Amino acid sequence: MKTSVNGISINYRDEGRGIPVILIHAFPMNQAMWDDQVLALAPMCRMITLDLRGFGASDIPLGPYWMALMASDVRSLMARLGVEQAVLVGLSMGGYVAMSLFRNFPDSVSGLVLADTRAAADTQDGRERRLASAEKAEHHGVESIVDEMLQLLLSQTAIDTRPDVVNRARQIALQNRPEGVAAAQRGMAARPDSTEMLAIVDRPALVLVGSEDRLSTPEETRGWQERMPNSQLAIIQGAGHLSNIEQPEAFNSALADFIKTFPN
Ligand code: MLT
Repeated sequence: MKTSVNGISINYRDEGRGIPVILIHAFPMNQAMWDDQVLALAPMCRMITLDLRGFGASDIPLGPYWMALMASDVRSLMARLGVEQAVLVGLSMGGYVAMSLFRNFPDSVSGLVLADTRAAADTQDGRERRLASAEKAEHHGVESIVDEMLQLLLSQTAIDTRPDVVNRARQIALQNRPEGVAAAQRGMAARPDSTEMLAIVDRPALVLVGSEDRLSTPEETRGWQERMPNSQLAIIQGAGHLSNIEQPEAFNSALADFIKTFPN
């Protein structure tokens, strides 16, 4: 379904009834990465997913896409759907957007699930690599960056033995356009450090990380999660960075247990 928010058309899905849960996708993915979660959890809660601006079937306005801008799109979508407060589930870039939404609209957030994401801003090297990748995507297409990204997004086991998982992630990434991918890279390069902000989050929080995540390692994740007063950590065994795609059952079960703690 499509609706207009902040002057652009956003593609979204809204399934199930009960407590609203908004799932915010990773880079360079789109809402299709949440298919297993929607199927498994829509019988117990209201699952809302969206293609962030620049991704999937949403509009691709000029960038950069600051995290606060994408957070404001999510907040406006909530308003459109009559959702005052939701549990936010953000994976990686989706986590940066969820953190920004909490920073700017804390009253809209009843709980936070941060999966395979990072509290820190980019290092100078990381920022430069990102800006170079944005240019590469613009000049040579999304396919020019996808294969090397998949090496980081998936566990070695998946790369070596699970062509279905590799193909699914690749197909989702290839549905995106270079302009949107580049604009999101530039926005992520400018994102603020959220370490101090997370330390004062008073909402219930679940932090998930794949045991084989190479981009946001379990060690790094534990470092900031331990400072979040009302949080718990769940390690998704045998998963890389896209832990919901690699190990959907373990991911769904941790998410369902967390959602059950909220009044319906
Ligand atoms: C993601 O999965 O969203 C990306 O790895 C985020 C990033 O590049 O920092």
